[in-house]
Amino acid sequence: MKTTSPPLAGVVGWPIGYSRSPALHGHWLKRYGIAGYYIPMDIAPQDFENGVRSLPRLGFRGINVTLPYKQTVLPLADKISDRAALIGAANTLIFREDGGIYADNTDGYGFIENLRQNAAGWSARNGPCLVLGAGGAARGIVSALITEGAPEIRIANRTRQRAEILKDQYGARISVIDWNRAADAMDGAMTIINTTSLGMAGQPELNISFAAAPASAIATDIVYNPLVTPFLREATAAGLVTVDGLGMLLHQAVPGFRQWFDHSPEVDAALRQAVLAA
Ligand code: ATR
Repeated sequence: MKTTSPPLAGVVGWPIGYSRSPALHGHWLKRYGIAGYYIPMDIAPQDFENGVRSLPRLGFRGINVTLPYKQTVLPLADKISDRAALIGAANTLIFREDGGIYADNTDGYGFIENLRQNAAGWSARNGPCLVLGAGGAARGIVSALITEGAPEIRIANRTRQRAEILKDQYGARISVIDWNRAADAMDGAMTIINTTSLGMAGQPELNISFAAAPASAIATDIVYNPLVTPFLREATAAGLVTVDGLGMLLHQAVPGFRQWFDHSPEVDAALRQAVLAA
């Protein structure tokens, strides 16, 4: 008798204990009655390549890749999506039936979908965007904003040189702003984004005035613990529409789940609750 094995996927990182992805995918598997598994895997750097290459043979259809492997995973791929190539990092691998590994980056997609679904009328084209921070998270977001047609992107980072590097890579629509002038750069900005770790539980707060921001601007944070950061609280007090960072995490997981488990999952309040409770 022929048996079909359950679809397997998972997340590889080091350490992996803090990842919310197992709770997220686990919620969807249960909810849609899919007899599959999504498994967290702690793999040390010296075992990473062999570990990942052995997964297709074990029945895995793909994996998410998280810190510290988002960049180092690229050489393992046979094919890299345009957006992953542009960012220089991947978070989603598809193990193809022909044995190939396809690497994609869905962080920018998650960022854009979160705003589209939670801020009525939002588009990157609405006007200048102000990006606070120039680390790995900023890279994915800046790249997505450019692809979505943002007319101008202002980047302010404590270490100015990292913002200059993004400008060198992504080009003419980017301007670099001094970190201590970031509040002034809100003038005319329609999308204001915190991509720094400031405001995360255990980190210093990001205290910035929204006085110069247009009343119709949207503020969003990539930090989701806590859900309402001091940055978002200030923005709300100034009358802006705000979108918290949890939705980005949830939406970036959609393309992988769809590929591995052949089902388009929904991002809704029940999923938010399940992930927050994990
Ligand atoms: P990630 O990959 O999550 O973006 P990262 O590459 O370490 O992580 O980037 C963290 C971001 O938060 C950077 O923009 C960092 O600024 P620097 O490039 O100057 O380090 C920013 N950040 C972290 N702590 C900060 C602080 N105390 N004040 C201002 N910016 C800070």
